[in-house]
Amino acid sequence: MSIRLLSFLLCIAFCFAHVCFAQTFTEPRQTAGKPMLSAAEPPLFEGWTKPKLMLFFTGFLDGYIEPCGCAGLDQMKGGLSRRMTCLQQLEKNGWHVLPIDAGNLNKGFGQQEELKFNFVIDEAYRLMKYQAAGLGSRELLFPTDTLILYSVDVPGNPKRYTSANAAIMEFSPDFVVPYRILEKEGIKIGIVSVLGDSLRNKIHNDDIKTAAAAGKLKEVLPKIAAENCNKKVLIFHGTANELNMLLKEFPDRFDFVLPSDIPAEPPLQPRKIGKTVLIEVGEKGRYAVAAGLFDDEKMPIRFERIPFDSRYNNSPKIMELMKIYQDQLRQTGLSGLGIKPIPDKRSAILGSFAGSASCADCHETAHNIWKKSRHAKAWDSLKETAKPARNFDPECIACHVIGWNAAEFMPYQNGFRSEKETPKLVSVGCESCHGQGENHIKAEQGADTALQEKIRRQLRLSVEGETVKKHCLTCHDGNNSPHFDFDTYWKKIDHRETEKDAE
Ligand code: HEC
Ligand code: HEC
Ligand code: HEC
Ligand code: HEC
Repeated sequence: MSIRLLSFLLCIAFCFAHVCFAQTFTEPRQTAGKPMLSAAEPPLFEGWTKPKLMLFFTGFLDGYIEPCGCAGLDQMKGGLSRRMTCLQQLEKNGWHVLPIDAGNLNKGFGQQEELKFNFVIDEAYRLMKYQAAGLGSRELLFPTDTLILYSVDVPGNPKRYTSANAAIMEFSPDFVVPYRILEKEGIKIGIVSVLGDSLRNKIHNDDIKTAAAAGKLKEVLPKIAAENCNKKVLIFHGTANELNMLLKEFPDRFDFVLPSDIPAEPPLQPRKIGKTVLIEVGEKGRYAVAAGLFDDEKMPIRFERIPFDSRYNNSPKIMELMKIYQDQLRQTGLSGLGIKPIPDKRSAILGSFAGSASCADCHETAHNIWKKSRHAKAWDSLKETAKPARNFDPECIACHVIGWNAAEFMPYQNGFRSEKETPKLVSVGCESCHGQGENHIKAEQGADTALQEKIRRQLRLSVEGETVKKHCLTCHDGNNSPHFDFDTYWKKIDHRETEKDAE
């Protein structure tokens, strides 16, 4: 039974049985990484009346601005575009929403991360009206000048970041504000963010000053108390252990805590430590956790986890930002992005990449089978299927071309550069698995049988053993190919002559 059919049937069962299986439903056999798909999400806001205010918690976007669509967009969650639409829908219903983010919006640092932050993340967060975000360990990876640009408030252009115990240059609200007070519908929310020691110790930038979290909280909490906040939020970047220690020192001082040590998916209803509600938003911005505040003594607060799945259409405004960002990547080019080819020791024997068409003359059967496979169309997926086109985006190119180290998102020397420079190396080709073909072709056209055999041995693969399976998994990982199963997948691309002849 196909997986889609299975989830569909389970979904029907779910609707009739009114039981919630989303948490217990286990994924089909998983070969690598964490499953990115979950079967069905329960309907949202059932039985809710309009809350007085909704706190809309997100975080740990980790650079996942839009789902890649590798496993089919309808099966993947996340994306700023869907999030924006969700916020707009809530607003359209007349609900008052206050978005708050835990931070760690970027994955790392470097030219591409900066372009992504600048052209998509920062602008999207402005459009979504975020006024508070924790300054996470990921943001602190940015070089000082970039960090200042992104996190320091300027008159007329307030930023959203805050941290009580990580400062740029010096501890002064002129640089990073130590806490933020937001007010909406007469409700005041105090927000403070700290880094645990485990992360403080990993900062290697002399311009960043840090102090122990507890000490800084002691300084900041009275100031927040003086503001008479209705709710207090702590954003904590660090280990679960560190957080537990901190909450022991500050018991019941916060209504909500957003920890960074979290499961991939938020639980359906949040856990509690004492009176403090643990808001675990899950990884990669695939969910938000909403806390509805009500004027209702019996039920003053309700929680809902919101999956950003295909129930939300793409926001044209965010798609526009994506287009601008992709255009920036195109203009900057791989070398501008600081992507330098890495050496591949196999090229000493094998030469460079020749492209799949150059194998057709001598391996007709294999070529015909490959040509009909999805591998041969991998480039079209980036250029035609992805909206906007992502064919200049190294984060997509890595697995959709010949001659890249997919695990490292780096091209090999002589690997794909651009469609213009290396037109034969678009899509996943023969050499994505077998290795460079140049010297093999030359040898086969010559008469040195010893050399021929030496090179053939290098290109030869076997489905027995783990080597080939592991190689598939460098591209078919848990995020991009959650249903990958070697035997089923190999059958679809098996191009052995002997097997076919025998049938
Ligand atoms: C000029 C003809 C020719 C061209 C072009 C050619 N090959 Fe070959 N290849 C051969 C011959 C002959 C053999 C040895 C017989 C066989 O196994 O088919 C061979 C063997 C191989 C083998 C080892 C198969 C085995 O198990 O022994 C692989 C893999 C292979 N070629 C891949 C490629 C790839 C990839 C390309 C394109 C980059 C390519 N070949 C281009 C002629 C060619
Ligand atoms: C260099 C990265 C890469 C490697 C290595 C790789 N694949 Fe793929 N594979 C892809 C990409 C990308 C696609 C999707 C192509 C598209 O439709 O855009 C894909 C698609 C497929 C599909 C089609 C899936 C479907 O639903 O029809 C099969 C089957 C497949 N791969 C099998 C394999 C097997 C088996 C291996 C290992 C022997 C392997 N692949 C190794 C990148 C890779
Ligand atoms: C780690 C490797 C990897 C990366 C990086 C990657 N892909 Fe893929 N992509 C795959 C694989 C593997 C498949 C095939 C999945 C399957 O069918 O199991 C695929 C399939 C696709 C498809 C075809 C889906 C369909 O149902 O037709 C699209 C579109 C796609 N990828 C777009 C992207 C975009 C856009 C990016 C960058 C944001 C990206 N990919 C990055 C490996 C990757
Ligand atoms: C996704 C990875 C992958 C791609 C793409 C791929 N191959 Fe292979 N190929 C393999 C594996 C694995 C085997 C070994 C199968 C076995 O155990 O005999 C193989 C076997 C072969 C063989 C030996 C076949 C036989 O009859 O024993 C040849 C020749 C070959 N491939 C050529 C090609 C050519 C030419 C292309 C492109 C048109 C290509 N391969 C694309 C993985 C791949």
